[in-house]
Amino acid sequence: ASIQGARRLNSGQCDIAINWAGGLHHAHKAEAAGFCYVNDIVLAILELLKYHQRVLYIDIDVHHGDGVEEAFYTTNRVMTVSFHRYGDFFPGTGDIKDMGEGEGKGYAVNVPLLNGLDDDSFVEIYKNIMEAVRQRFRPEAVVLQCGADSLAYDKLGTYNTTLRGHGACVKIVKEWGLPLMILGGGGYTIKNVARCWTYETGICLDTELDNELPLNDYYELLGKDHKLHFEAKPDIKNENTREYLEFIQAKCLANLNSLEHAPSVGITDFIVNDFYSHEDIEKH
Ligand code: CO
Repeated sequence: ASIQGARRLNSGQCDIAINWAGGLHHAHKAEAAGFCYVNDIVLAILELLKYHQRVLYIDIDVHHGDGVEEAFYTTNRVMTVSFHRYGDFFPGTGDIKDMGEGEGKGYAVNVPLLNGLDDDSFVEIYKNIMEAVRQRFRPEAVVLQCGADSLAYDKLGTYNTTLRGHGACVKIVKEWGLPLMILGGGGYTIKNVARCWTYETGICLDTELDNELPLNDYYELLGKDHKLHFEAKPDIKNENTREYLEFIQAKCLANLNSLEHAPSVGITDFIVNDFYSHEDIEKH
């Protein structure tokens, strides 16, 4: 389904392709890992690369997107950006210092986060880093892995975010108006996974969904309150202090700024837009 989604994006049959059953980011080329058997994301990105010079991969699952990063670690045609819980946590990779190698140096971005992450901190650092990524890398197509284990109450996750923060990450990228593939991923408190991906399907369709869940076959599985949204845990400490987040963000932005320019993008376009005013250019 992910490969088919990529083909439809390539041929302009759709502008957003969604596969909530995809997003299996831990699978390696010849090894299953972390509940992932086949890395549909890598296969879909390879398909997108047939028609797009630069593809951006973003991963907001609570776990590091190791399989996808590994596949494109040495190329500058795919930038991988993973926001994840880091430090004594599966799969253990995703250090901020891991930035890609060879031609791919600087084209892997890792944003290591800590327990208790809340909506405001998540959206703030995501927005700032993704805007810099957009300007420096200038993607032609985007793949967003929306693992729902980065929500509060997840059985494996350790964040404290709600659908609003998680969904904001989808909305920000959707507003770029680029060919977009939306994928699922992790998520282990099933009733909230269903809530999350329903809400985000609504975001993709520019549709505000009612907070009252309509009667359906799975009504009882969705818990007692029958609401779409849930609130963050009140008693959780956000270990991501302002100082920590500022440090991580500054480091990521400095790494992005050290990239020369988006590969295959005309240097003139780049200078006009990023460094100098038009007057400066005319003077020279
Ligand atoms: Co996960």
